[in-house]
Amino acid sequence: MKLIDDRQIKKEDQQYILHSWSKQKDVHPKIIKKGEGIFFWDEADKKYYDMCSQLVYLNVGHSHPKLLEEFKHIGEIPLAAPGFATASKAELARKIIDAAPDNMAKVFFANGGADSNDHAVKIARMVTGRYKIFSRYRSYHGATFGAGNLSGESRRFTVEPGIPGFIKFDVPYLYREVVDFNSEEEATDFYLARLNNQILYEGPDSIAAIFMEPIPGSNGVLIPPKGYLEGVRQLCDKYGILMICDEVMSGFGRTGKMFAVDHFDFQPDMMTFAKGVTCGYSPLGGVIVSEKVAKYFDDHVLMTGLTYSGHTVSTQIGCVTMDIYKEEQLIEHAAAMGNVLAARLEKMRRFDSVGDVRHIGLFAAVEIVKNKETKEPIIAYGMDYGRDKVGLMSRFVSMLIENGFYTYSHESSVLIAPPLVITEQQIHEAMDIFEKVLAEFEKDYLFADKTVTTK
Ligand SMILES: Cc1ncc(COP(=O)(O)O)c(C=O)c1O
Repeated sequence: MKLIDDRQIKKEDQQYILHSWSKQKDVHPKIIKKGEGIFFWDEADKKYYDMCSQLVYLNVGHSHPKLLEEFKHIGEIPLAAPGFATASKAELARKIIDAAPDNMAKVFFANGGADSNDHAVKIARMVTGRYKIFSRYRSYHGATFGAGNLSGESRRFTVEPGIPGFIKFDVPYLYREVVDFNSEEEATDFYLARLNNQILYEGPDSIAAIFMEPIPGSNGVLIPPKGYLEGVRQLCDKYGILMICDEVMSGFGRTGKMFAVDHFDFQPDMMTFAKGVTCGYSPLGGVIVSEKVAKYFDDHVLMTGLTYSGHTVSTQIGCVTMDIYKEEQLIEHAAAMGNVLAARLEKMRRFDSVGDVRHIGLFAAVEIVKNKETKEPIIAYGMDYGRDKVGLMSRFVSMLIENGFYTYSHESSVLIAPPLVITEQQIHEAMDIFEKVLAEFEKDYLFADKTVTTK
């Protein structure tokens, strides 16, 4: 590839690239010239704390030396179509199964998150012979037609009218729930009773799977109330429904455990993954299936496939990534650094504009409101993605980025999910920037016509 200068890269980017989720005239991308650990530098040599790991995938950080070294050996293993066995595919599948809950038995490799979810839906339909799929509002499962239909938020609207039999139910979002619960257990009972009713109304015999992010990520890191996921598992068992957990964002140490489901006392029937399996050094995703699901396909044809299922390069990168998690004890480190981040976030509740903070491991969101009493969100529902380019949330995120804190927002939540290699000092440095910017934002924009009392 011939290297061209920065001005030409930007010109050609604008001329030839269609950028996702954006009005193209609004897109003025920077160029990442260098990355190292939790930092990257743009074309003006400006340094950024990558506080969202690009799109929550760079768990091992930018330019990991072990992965860069591995790229020198790409090509030593010959490329092979999915029907062949390869060393890297076999090794990675074994490593994933070893890391997954102990009921899990086999892996179907896909290319990324969305198509992994599409395949999980197909597998659930094949195994159960049923067709309805339940998933939740305020979830994101990807942008393909199938995963788009699973998603319970505004990015779904372009794939509607949707696929018949894709049913949505409510996610526990306690901060914005209209019912005032006395305890998490009370909330759990409420949401499970409603889900049970909905299953009955839809006809349990037609429902193949209940699909969920155990902890919804881009919709604001919504941590379930105590006993909720275990209760969903019981409902699935009661009605013969498969439980599928989307671990695309929450998997591979993000929450301080290997998978988000490890925080709870239940095992799903299938889990989907992507992002952290290779940390984006090469695209890869997949579906992990339980022994029971795997056994079904001993005598039934798995009627699905992909040209690049188990791609040699990506699985080779995946093997090295899995080794890094272990050698650098990154999962344990993420849990310890999660405590540091949690303490900083809890202190941020003093800000007039911070409605809620939610966190588990290095997976966190700060929900910004215009008014703490009324909880009026900083951005109206569904107004993301180019529809509110001049709004307050866009302004706040731009200010963060201008000040070297790189992240993104969705609805009224700003995501904080740095590479798992972050240190205690770096968390404090980054959060100092966040607080300084938030104070300026409140004074200059959000409460410009009021006296700001906190800080
Ligand atoms: C929970 C979840 N599932 C699925 C996806 C889709 O993954 P991909 O963009 O690799 O298709 C995402 C992407 O952010 C995600 O967060």
